[in-house]
Amino acid sequence: MANKFPKDFLWGGAAAAHQIEGAWNADGKGISIADVMTAGANGIAREITKGVIPGKNYPNHEAIDFYHRYKEDIALFKELGLNVFRTSINWARIFPNGDEEEPNEAGLQFYDNLFDELLRNGIEPVITLSHFEIPYHLHEAYGGFKNKKLIDFFVHYAETVMTRYQKKVKYWMTFNEINNQADGQHELHTWTNSAMLFQAGENKEELTFQAGLNELIASAKVVRLGHKINPEFQIGCMMAYVPVYPYSCNPEDLMASVKVMDRRFFYSDIHARGVIPTYAKKYWEEKGYQIEITEDETQALKEGTVDYIGFSYYMSGAVTTLPEISGENITDFPGAKVVRNPYVQASDWGWQIDPVGLRYTLNVVYERYNLPLFIVENGFGAYDRLEDGQVHDTYRIDYLQKHIEQMNLAVHVDGVDLLGYTPWGIIDLVSFGSGEMEKRYGMIYVDKDNEGKGSLVRLKKDSFAWYQKLIQENQ
Ligand code: BG6
Repeated sequence: MANKFPKDFLWGGAAAAHQIEGAWNADGKGISIADVMTAGANGIAREITKGVIPGKNYPNHEAIDFYHRYKEDIALFKELGLNVFRTSINWARIFPNGDEEEPNEAGLQFYDNLFDELLRNGIEPVITLSHFEIPYHLHEAYGGFKNKKLIDFFVHYAETVMTRYQKKVKYWMTFNEINNQADGQHELHTWTNSAMLFQAGENKEELTFQAGLNELIASAKVVRLGHKINPEFQIGCMMAYVPVYPYSCNPEDLMASVKVMDRRFFYSDIHARGVIPTYAKKYWEEKGYQIEITEDETQALKEGTVDYIGFSYYMSGAVTTLPEISGENITDFPGAKVVRNPYVQASDWGWQIDPVGLRYTLNVVYERYNLPLFIVENGFGAYDRLEDGQVHDTYRIDYLQKHIEQMNLAVHVDGVDLLGYTPWGIIDLVSFGSGEMEKRYGMIYVDKDNEGKGSLVRLKKDSFAWYQKLIQENQ
């Protein structure tokens, strides 16, 4: 690599409570929205069930049992050399139904123990408040985030944990990949982002804009409050950035890509600038949408802008209006279709591998907001082969190495202010999209298959030694 990263650069790993902890009903925890999602498969969607139905396979119920094995896992993180570990607090451990006044002390105690163990090992926790773990009851009783009551429930939850852990956690993020739900059309995303399912005849897009805006208001209130609890807090948002390129240099393709990206940037535009962008207001007007926001909420948006932009980056996409190219029709721009980019390869799950797209994203987002950036997810989901206790995951090393090289260029050539890098699934975990165990991202292998069978034993993959060396060389 051309240059070393700065000494204070945060090297880490990332995961989310529901994908690692298991212990889904231990110590007073309530059911979360992830607990009613069955295992899907590569190309087969997960089912969202009405409550937990006995006999179905719910992979998050046990996950990798981090709840009971975190000490062993943190010892491995220490050996890797991580400075930070990104995970989430499972909201349903703290408020089992989401609408209680009093928190569940056993849930709070678990995170005290976890953060203490991390800190004892020289690893700083980086915490997401809501990573697809909304208490299921908030869906059943209130219909999810389209209901403004959830703003107060979220703020109360955030105030509880930010107060409790104010001396243990400095870096926070509010809603994980809040912009996944951008077009309101994918059930998986409106479920995991907002705990919403739709009835026939409901306008999904309008309701999703309302839910998204409610979350942005909740986030802004939490940023404002968090800074009062501890002025040292760094509170960010968390975006999924998938840059969508124009397929050709036809000006219509360029405009289509701008409109597709507007819809995804809508969320970070509000998080970072504190106002609703004009393009969104015009769109709502044209569609006749009645998106509700009070004066107090408008004020909260202005006062609760984020300190940094956290984001995931896995892949890029492409869009075209050219009639001769076939693809999946989308509504963001007349005649637009999402198409395969012929210049990049894809993973076994069809995710287009594009390291340069990471440098592009870092440039575009830094120019757009002029705020520090934090890559809190990046990684390669692949089928690993375990042979004689070893996993030779050269493909993962290759993916990560190439992305880190582009990150290096963004920092040293382009001058982007980048806080750190926490590759996703530092330890194998349950895939969010498909519920598989065998879509593996980890540098630490976990012996468990898609049917939930295995010893749960942890093993170091080749990428473990590679990342360990890279961190050492950069400190
Ligand atoms: C992001 C999520 O979408 O990407 C993670 O924040 C998720 O929760 C990760 O696991 C990878 O997606 P998947 O579907 O491969 O697990």
